[in-house]
Amino acid sequence: MKKLVLENYGAASIAAADIFAELLREKPDSVFGLATGSTPLGLYAELVKRYQAGEIDFSKARSFNLDEYYPISKDHPQSYAYFMRENLFSKVNFSSSRLPGGDADDPAAECARYDAEIEAAGGIDLQLLGIGLNGHIGFNEPALSYSMSTNLVNLTESTLEANSRFFAQGDIQPSKALTMGFGAIFKAKKILLMITGANKATIAKRLFEGFVHTDVPACLLLLHPDVTVVMDKDAARLL
Ligand code: PGA
Repeated sequence: MKKLVLENYGAASIAAADIFAELLREKPDSVFGLATGSTPLGLYAELVKRYQAGEIDFSKARSFNLDEYYPISKDHPQSYAYFMRENLFSKVNFSSSRLPGGDADDPAAECARYDAEIEAAGGIDLQLLGIGLNGHIGFNEPALSYSMSTNLVNLTESTLEANSRFFAQGDIQPSKALTMGFGAIFKAKKILLMITGANKATIAKRLFEGFVHTDVPACLLLLHPDVTVVMDKDAARLL
């Protein structure tokens, strides 16, 4: 795993955007795996800025997101579909962008369709990942076994608690989600894991201990041949 420790969140976002831009230059029709959460917001803002300045172009590129709450409509302000539209898709020109359908009637069929679409696109060239406080990747929560396929999962108490900050009081927070499994993530040619903020220092330390802790889903990434971890100093402070 290659580790880049940047001075602060802004610098980490720029370093991550450089990795996106380099791949777009090398392969304009790349397939990007994208993530939601607070971590990639700076990266997405930087990509929008570079797109508006005419420095990068996504017109031949496609994207697949890691996960989506279930059930939730695409127009719900807390849906990841809404988040992606607000922060990236309405501002840059991907030729197509897909998320797992949080409004699908048959979640199992939707999961199978999602994996088939990723496969048909030739797999993911660059998968962007954040990490949960509990080490989750996408919504693959710590468990005794991990699904290879996109699947419907129950969110853990710690994830519900961590994400409750986005829901207004009285809003119903879904307790399930559709998440890409480790199959599609592992088939990605390159992985870019962003870890930023002091609250991620403890989980970052576990990741870099040099053991595949099976109760930390992110540790499975230690087995992937091409992972770059972009961090800020706050997240790296215990390394
Ligand atoms: P965050 O979420 O970027 O909001 O910290 C990351 C995650 O839970 O995977």
